[in-house]
Amino acid sequence: MAVRIIGTGSCLAEKEVTNDELAKYVDTSDEWISSRTGIKKRRIAIEETTTSMASEAARRALEMAGRDASEVDLIIVATVTPDYYTPSVACQVQAEIGADNAIAFDVNAACSGFVFALNTAKMYIETGYTKNALVIGAETLSKIMDWNDRGTCVLFGDGAGAAYLEESDMGIINIVQGSIGKKGMVLNCRARKTNNVFVQGEIEPDFLHMDGQEVYKFAVRQCPKCLLEALEKADMTPEDIDYFVLHQANVRIIQSVAKRLKAPIEKFPMTLDYTGNMSAASVPVMLDELVRERGIKRGDKVAVSAFGAGLTYAAAIIEW
Ligand code: ACO
Repeated sequence: MAVRIIGTGSCLAEKEVTNDELAKYVDTSDEWISSRTGIKKRRIAIEETTTSMASEAARRALEMAGRDASEVDLIIVATVTPDYYTPSVACQVQAEIGADNAIAFDVNAACSGFVFALNTAKMYIETGYTKNALVIGAETLSKIMDWNDRGTCVLFGDGAGAAYLEESDMGIINIVQGSIGKKGMVLNCRARKTNNVFVQGEIEPDFLHMDGQEVYKFAVRQCPKCLLEALEKADMTPEDIDYFVLHQANVRIIQSVAKRLKAPIEKFPMTLDYTGNMSAASVPVMLDELVRERGIKRGDKVAVSAFGAGLTYAAAIIEW
């Protein structure tokens, strides 16, 4: 028995912002951003929320799978940018799409969040606790950006991607995941400080802070390492893989991983040039594009890898 993705969907924020447009508000340039990251534009939420984009991506995944929301047993949303501390985005998606019979909760593992949630859903289905699951990665990162910090605000975008899973004869072969909490502060966004009648804290939450070079070093080391570990567990090598779906943070990171795996860069599809880094949404949006526009077919081998704040990392090997 395997757990298979039978429907995918995505939804990006409507407003497109090019590097040149961003340079009107931030001291930066298209040349700097494109040459260092590969990002040319991104979507920025105006009316959209994390929940609204997650719900739309979920509806599209269910439509592709040919399933009704009332049939969904489990909804897991991976996000670091929920609309509320509580209720979770997953509970709000449940209400929005009418998945009244589902268990719903969020997972916070930043850019690795979708793959972490995928593994959780896989285990729910494998143990027979649920028959299916809707796994969503959704972010409105623009709301936690410091728009005066050109080192971070140019990198990110807003959107959501979803995958609907059921038991099948082929599908996810294995997933490896890990966390390095002691390095967590290299990429952080503080929540509210303690504030009560005994302690006067700050009410306003913080913005995202990143030590870009530390994150870069972590990504280029950990991403190929966990991909190779997942491949070895699957008794496969990089040559067996048709598509490497990596977290869409930076073209240089992806090029470095391709080099380390001795795999042709053509096997690494990318959305980052037009989406920027959408954290937990990056992987499912890329998967949806593979299905809808790049002709992935049943039986193709896909290696997924994501890495991000926490620090967290994960890799999955999938027979599509
Ligand atoms: N426009 C123009 N200049 C800039 C900008 C900008 N947007 N941002 C920084 N600079 C300047 C800096 O001020 C600095 O100038 P100085 O030398 O005069 O002080 C110079 O460019 C170099 O800055 P660095 O931060 O050292 O630039 P670096 O070459 O390291 O590139 C980058 C920065 C692209 C962020 C790189 O470190 C990187 O890709 N890191 C990985 C980040 C990442 O992918 N994070 C997300 C992964 S995890 C997740 O998804 C949550």
